Amino acid sequence: MKLDGKVVLITGGASGIGLAAVKLFLENGAKVAVADINASSGNQLIESLPHEHLAFFKTDITKESDCHQTVQNVLSRFGAIDVLINNAGIEIVSPIHEMALEDWHRILQVNLTGVFLMSKHTLPHMLEKKSGSIINTGSVGGLVGWPDIPAYNATKGGVIQLTKSMAIDYAAHQIRVNCIAPGIIDTPLNEKSFLDNHTESLEIVKKEKAKVNPMLRLGKPEEIAGVMLFLASDLSSYMTGSVVTADGGYTAR
Ligand SMILES: NC(=O)c1ccc[n+]([C@@H]2O[C@H](COP(=O)([O-])OP(=O)(O)OC[C@H]3O[C@@H](n4cnc5c(N)ncnc54)[C@H](O)[C@@H]3O)[C@@H](O)[C@H]2O)c1
Repeated sequence: MKLDGKVVLITGGASGIGLAAVKLFLENGAKVAVADINASSGNQLIESLPHEHLAFFKTDITKESDCHQTVQNVLSRFGAIDVLINNAGIEIVSPIHEMALEDWHRILQVNLTGVFLMSKHTLPHMLEKKSGSIINTGSVGGLVGWPDIPAYNATKGGVIQLTKSMAIDYAAHQIRVNCIAPGIIDTPLNEKSFLDNHTESLEIVKKEKAKVNPMLRLGKPEEIAGVMLFLASDLSSYMTGSVVTADGGYTAR
């Protein structure tokens, strides 16, 4: 699965699944550009993992000017973008009847509009060089109704449909577009959500959540990064428009 010399642009690469992917892609010879809204995590990443093939660009994926500028910065720094991983996302726990309109707008902007904007500004370059792989991070919540996060599920359903539609539109241009749908992965996103929405200790909540999966454990960020690496590499060269679940068997029931 070596990605020698390939340039990977990943959003949300300063934490959780994205961070695991950054490390795995570097180990596999890629040049990695991280686009994240969190400058302190991004700068910390560069300090803790100094590497000539790693760069951080502070980016709010909900802002079109940021997305445009980051794509230009990555092209200036590394000369190409072979793989775009639309991974940044947020979760808001709220039943619909209690959800503030601004929260609804916010989660749509980050989880869905962000995928649109980063793809929009990367695709002209991929079209020009007639190759590319786009990997969108969906969720099993985009395939089945996951309790308490209806807006999140709606955004991830949108990501899956956007993936399939883009796959069809760009297949003839040798640009593949696939989606990974993780189950519950042990990341800061989930830890924050568990702490905010449960009174029990984090350890107890994690044990309870693990029980919903046939594999009886939460996933590790590295286990999602591995699927991203496969989708980025030529080993998946005949795959486009696919939604790959990595969920400990949750959706197999
Ligand atoms: N953790 C899970 O259980 C799980 C399950 C299914 C899908 N996912 C999806 O995986 C992706 C990564 O999640 P994670 O668990 O690693 O979360 P995380 O919170 O650990 O990391 C998300 C990263 O996205 C960044 N980000 C947030 N808003 C941004 C914005 N507007 N612009 C740029 N960057 C922004 C954050 O700063 C953070 O570094 C998300 O799309 C999430 O929905 C996670």
